[in-house]
Amino acid sequence: MREHGCREFVKIVAATVQTRIPFSHRERELVPIGDGAVWLKHWLSVDEQRAVVDQCDAIMNGPAGGYVPLVRGGGKMHVRMVCLGRHWNALTYKYESTRTDHDQAPVAPVPEEWVQLASRAAAEAGFTFAPDLCIMNWYDADGRMGLHQDKDEGRESIEAGLPVVSISLGDTARFLFGGIKRRDPIQSLLLESGDTFVFGGAARLRYHGVSRIIAGTSPPELGLEGRFNLTFRKY
Ligand code: SIN
Ligand code: MN
Repeated sequence: MREHGCREFVKIVAATVQTRIPFSHRERELVPIGDGAVWLKHWLSVDEQRAVVDQCDAIMNGPAGGYVPLVRGGGKMHVRMVCLGRHWNALTYKYESTRTDHDQAPVAPVPEEWVQLASRAAAEAGFTFAPDLCIMNWYDADGRMGLHQDKDEGRESIEAGLPVVSISLGDTARFLFGGIKRRDPIQSLLLESGDTFVFGGAARLRYHGVSRIIAGTSPPELGLEGRFNLTFRKY
């Protein structure tokens, strides 16, 4: 990841508006966003979301759980993070097997059912994919993430265009999706709970970030105030 400040977005991507419909009755929708990028709206049912949220809670609040990474220059990220499979070091931008920028704890594996889940989402977006790492982020109402590229994975993985699979749970996020170049136009998508966003192929290195969290928008069934985001990648 490379952090940069967010810029103004220029285009809001519209999908069918289902915000007045309870989450449990919303329909799945596949929204192509560009070559290699697919937005799977309402992809997880509320029951599926709850099962994943329970696992996220246990990991985020368990031993070797979430922490706020310090980045180069001494600033703090605006999320709590836990990495599974491989640890992403926010100071070196490298992956490692223990959290050397934090508490030296070894990295836990990605739960096998999550690997299957991410593979299924990728397949719906047209990719064959088995992730070996997952970065879990927790955003409170003030959480955000600057515009960046995911480019710290192995060269082969990136050159092959293996996708990033991103699953959103809890409060809605305003997700910014730019181009390959920092100054390219930026689209703005409201990622809701259960939405899954897949970007690989020609879209693998597109800039992206989260400019804000919309508090109070989580499905009531989840009992969450905030947002979990899981991004799956293959190193
Ligand atoms: C990320 O880019 O690592 C996270 C994106 C998100 O939270 O939707
Ligand atoms: Mn990213």
